[in-house]
Amino acid sequence: MSKRIIAVLPGDGIGEEVTAEAVRVIEKLNAATDAGFECVHVPVGGTAYDLHGTPLPEDTLSTARDANAILLGAVGGPKWESAPRELRPERALLGLRSELSLFSNLRPAILYPELADASTLKPEVVSGLDIMIVRELTGGIYFGGPRGIETVDGQRRGFNTMEYTESEIKRIAHSAFRAAMQRDKRLCSVDKANVLEVSELWREVVTKISSEYPQVELSHMYVDNACMQLVRAPKQFDVILTTNMFGDILSDAASMLTGSIGMLPSASLNADGKGMYEPVHGSAPDIAGQGIANPLATILSVAMMLRYTFTENAMADKIEAAVQRVLANGLRTADLAREGETPVTTSEMGQAVLDELV
Ligand code: NAD
Ligand code: IPM
Ligand code: MN
Repeated sequence: MSKRIIAVLPGDGIGEEVTAEAVRVIEKLNAATDAGFECVHVPVGGTAYDLHGTPLPEDTLSTARDANAILLGAVGGPKWESAPRELRPERALLGLRSELSLFSNLRPAILYPELADASTLKPEVVSGLDIMIVRELTGGIYFGGPRGIETVDGQRRGFNTMEYTESEIKRIAHSAFRAAMQRDKRLCSVDKANVLEVSELWREVVTKISSEYPQVELSHMYVDNACMQLVRAPKQFDVILTTNMFGDILSDAASMLTGSIGMLPSASLNADGKGMYEPVHGSAPDIAGQGIANPLATILSVAMMLRYTFTENAMADKIEAAVQRVLANGLRTADLAREGETPVTTSEMGQAVLDELV
């Protein structure tokens, strides 16, 4: 079998801690099967900045480009907050997404039944929750121009531009409709078309594309209402399609429905199915270095990698089943632990998944 290279970019803060556990899962799959994955570690974010003076060194970008898939931990932290904007750790993440055209960001929010009591919402509101957020990842206000800070009439003015071309909207709409076809065939497109022209175009193009998917029931919702509905009655959603910034915000909100942001994996795909896989959470400076972060989002991101890039669905199923058994056995990291319960550490949680991975 030809080599299957996985570029591993642990990044900063808990990124390193959770990625280490995910790599152990990949190594176990290697030992147990002829999967033949090869992990190549390269620095990214603040860690890369400290080593090489840039958050996305040329070697890291080319390793990511040449690999079959990318596993990323998280980037950022207070140490680098005062660095010039173009050298901030977050720029590396945006650079990877943009350079590799990873426009389709899939963020599933699934409640494992064992975690119904870990959510801050009532169990009956969240039980059975299974939402797929499809977030446009290489356009919108994150990348639009003009942007900057300038001085006008003696005071500074900051500005960004939210923009989408028809082709950018079309390709992400197709991703979302295809996802809906694999699921309950309900798609809710979230925008701000009552105020923004860019959303008006978004809504028009999505509606037009829907004629190619007659089996999918399309609805539209304003983003402010969508936030409220996610907390009020989240199970009304099947697939949510939205823009870069709205998707960023909605997915963090959706994460708490599943018990913790430490549970949410993601896949960022290009048109050829190449993917970068990462937890939705960040580098969590408040708990970094303590060995207490939840590694499950990153481990579940490996399952997404197996499914979307390597079409190793049986292996992906095994990882998800192992996570489910670990939770059923009552293991909880601090973010999930109930009152009075002693939480397990990051590596104990990782080991428990390995032990269940048969
Ligand atoms: P964050 O997601 O890092 O943390 C928010 C809260 O969630 C914190 O209290 C943290 O302890 C907790 N948390 C996050 N992941 C957890 C896990 N796996 N287990 C247990 N608890 C977890 O968001 P933030 O604090 O707003 O950002 C911190 C840094 O991370 C910033 O520099 C930000 O830019 C960066 N960031 C990076 C990414 C990424 O690399 N994809 C995503 C979001 C934020
Ligand atoms: C995410 C993060 C990133 C984003 C930041 C760190 C650039 O919040 O992956 O959700 O805003 O996309
Ligand atoms: Mn985010």
